[in-house]
Amino acid sequence: MAFEIEVNGVKRSADVDGDTPLLWVLRDVLGMTGTKFGCGRALCGACTVHIDGNATRSCITPIDSIGASKVTTIEAIGATPIGARVQKAWLDHEVVQCGYCQSGQIMSATALLAQTPHPTDADIDGAMSGNVCRCGTYLRIRDAIKQAAQQNRQGG
Ligand code: FES
Ligand code: FES
Repeated sequence: MAFEIEVNGVKRSADVDGDTPLLWVLRDVLGMTGTKFGCGRALCGACTVHIDGNATRSCITPIDSIGASKVTTIEAIGATPIGARVQKAWLDHEVVQCGYCQSGQIMSATALLAQTPHPTDADIDGAMSGNVCRCGTYLRIRDAIKQAAQQNRQGG
């Protein structure tokens, strides 16, 4: 069955079964490989995208549940002011090691800062706890989120 979904502001069509995970549609049907497959069971966060601004595990989100909701992926997050601040902070703090988890980390961080512009450490831990990094970049991630939040405060 053909499903029409809006991804990064563009209507896209996917002729798949209704229970096909969004992650499969993004990567295999639409060729958008920035969103990663890690566990397939909502345990690692590598597949995180935004659905209507909420950080969502695309590996367990069936295509038939999306409807008119807006999907945003790592490919477009830098076009938003918060996404641009987060990506700059990631570069300034040299967060990335192998990189595999990082698109999911950035999607969770941008959703956090959009909803909580000045997060506490507990807010950061709560929002990021589902994003696993086997390289252990957690401290740099936290510092980068704080930098991006500071720029939120400055409006820069
Ligand atoms: S691949 Fe979706 S949470 Fe791990
Ligand atoms: S940077 Fe390697 S898994 Fe996170």
